[in-house]
Amino acid sequence: MDRVRVVVVGAGRMGARRAGSVASSKSATLVGVVDPVTERANDLAKKQGCASAGSLEDLTGAGDIDAVIISTPNDEHGKVAIPSLNKGRSVFCEKPLSNTLEEADGIHAAWKASGQLFRMGSNAREFGNVRKALQLAREGAIGSPAYGRGWIGFEKAIARNDASYYDTKKIGGGVLVDVGHHIVDLGRAFLGDFDDAFGYSPTPISTDGRVPLDTCFIGTLRRRDGRWFSLQASWQDYSGYLFLEIAGDKGSLVVDSRHNVATLDLNSPGGGRTSWDFYAEGPVSFQREMDTFLEAVRTGKDERGPSCEDGLRTLAAIRSMYASWSSGSWASLPPRFRSLPS
Ligand SMILES: NC(=O)c1ccc[n+]([C@@H]2O[C@H](COP(=O)([O-])OP(=O)(O)OC[C@H]3O[C@@H](n4cnc5c(N)ncnc54)[C@H](O)[C@@H]3O)[C@@H](O)[C@H]2O)c1
Repeated sequence: MDRVRVVVVGAGRMGARRAGSVASSKSATLVGVVDPVTERANDLAKKQGCASAGSLEDLTGAGDIDAVIISTPNDEHGKVAIPSLNKGRSVFCEKPLSNTLEEADGIHAAWKASGQLFRMGSNAREFGNVRKALQLAREGAIGSPAYGRGWIGFEKAIARNDASYYDTKKIGGGVLVDVGHHIVDLGRAFLGDFDDAFGYSPTPISTDGRVPLDTCFIGTLRRRDGRWFSLQASWQDYSGYLFLEIAGDKGSLVVDSRHNVATLDLNSPGGGRTSWDFYAEGPVSFQREMDTFLEAVRTGKDERGPSCEDGLRTLAAIRSMYASWSSGSWASLPPRFRSLPS
């Protein structure tokens, strides 16, 4: 295929960002924008010079569609993903895959049956320091990964006082399933699948008098082979805050994107250290993840994640951390998501 023909579904904050990235890509053409709030769809379509409609079914004048970008609220992901996959379209889906494991299973089954490319939105994997750390870990720079810890923050959810962040029915949780998703995804990318989860929120708020919503979440994921990952996700820590440390038997990797830095250190047990600074590359992660997705659709070759499978497994870890918070004790992941015996 010469150029991938793309429709963005959901013309809110992320939809506008994704539409801009598609328009700047060398591999694709943005052919349409869809949103039930028609002024939103029309405004974005006018800005980008493409067709618009209230739903994918009503989108006429866009011609054939190769790929769909799903930037709707979480509880709408499946409603768009499943019919799109059934029609043979590739999908880029914002995290999380869905609010529930049941719906996520349905998306996963449709993906498997379709043979199409499916990428989870996860721009944190495309930070220069995270990308390099993943590459070094894959090359064995720290030996066998043993444990890690990660923090992520996004204070804008509270600063905006935006009710959509507090709508547990739409989001399926609070900060853990929001920005916390990135850090759980990275924990899995470095350490593999987990078996047990512990989670706790020290600052829950109640939005409907019933469901506690986590504005800060602290959790631990462990594997039966001893690997361990602890994390904190917070709507109090400032936006862009990301810190990650992964240690293995031959060294450790420290990713630091706090306080306007973007560094990576590779530490060796004898005290040696190699450092990289990615600050000069600027905020390129969203464009980079879209470019790599669109090029993968264009060429039919996908060498990167996270895939639909990763999205399902990350969601399983997150749901188990929430289950642990509810019960006050460790929660085991459902057997099909646990680590393979080593
Ligand atoms: N870095 C990231 O990866 C990142 C950051 C923020 C948000 N997100 C994800 O992006 C998604 C959207 O978040 P947002 O902040 O842009 O929300 P938003 O509320 O700003 O926009 C969502 C839009 O989707 C539209 N919509 C609802 N149902 C729809 C449907 N069935 N078809 C088409 N459009 C529909 C709404 O009218 C709205 O315009 C969420 O899944 C969120 O988790 C990802």
